[in-house]
Amino acid sequence: MNSLTILRYPDPRLHTVAKPVAAVDARIKELAQQMLETMYEASGIGLAATQIDVHERLIVIDVSENRDQPLVLINPEIVWSSPEKRLGEEGCLSVPGIYDGVERAIGIRMQAMDLEGKLQTHEAEGMLAVCIQHEMDHLMGKVFVEYLSPLKRNRIKTKLVKQKKDEERDGDR
Ligand code: NI
Repeated sequence: MNSLTILRYPDPRLHTVAKPVAAVDARIKELAQQMLETMYEASGIGLAATQIDVHERLIVIDVSENRDQPLVLINPEIVWSSPEKRLGEEGCLSVPGIYDGVERAIGIRMQAMDLEGKLQTHEAEGMLAVCIQHEMDHLMGKVFVEYLSPLKRNRIKTKLVKQKKDEERDGDR
């Protein structure tokens, strides 16, 4: 198992804006594979390259019940979003243990390259649409807690900073 380290909020590197993937080559294929393994290992439904400190427009997702329908999105762009929005609870592998409501478009249409370098159009709704919007925010350097009130966000920040300190102290023993 080749798990990558997932950056945790409030790590400032999570606010880096990703650059387009220049070529879908062996390096990108290997990276996508490692990201999928890392996502499955962490029981997540999506992971953006930003979260593993690689600042290129690459996302992996699997919202299937059996965890057997991986989706790799390279240089994704949302070309249409429904005007209808819905408030839903979200979590994030970079913000462990925190869940809160975020308003998202209920349907989207997007274009992205696949692992063969072919441009594909995807229509998504429900959990997949939410997940794509959440992961695309990561590529823009945005973490979902930034949609919450400053008060809530500061509480989350304090909690996670403390959690990290506790872990580091325990690790030193
Ligand atoms: Ni996330």
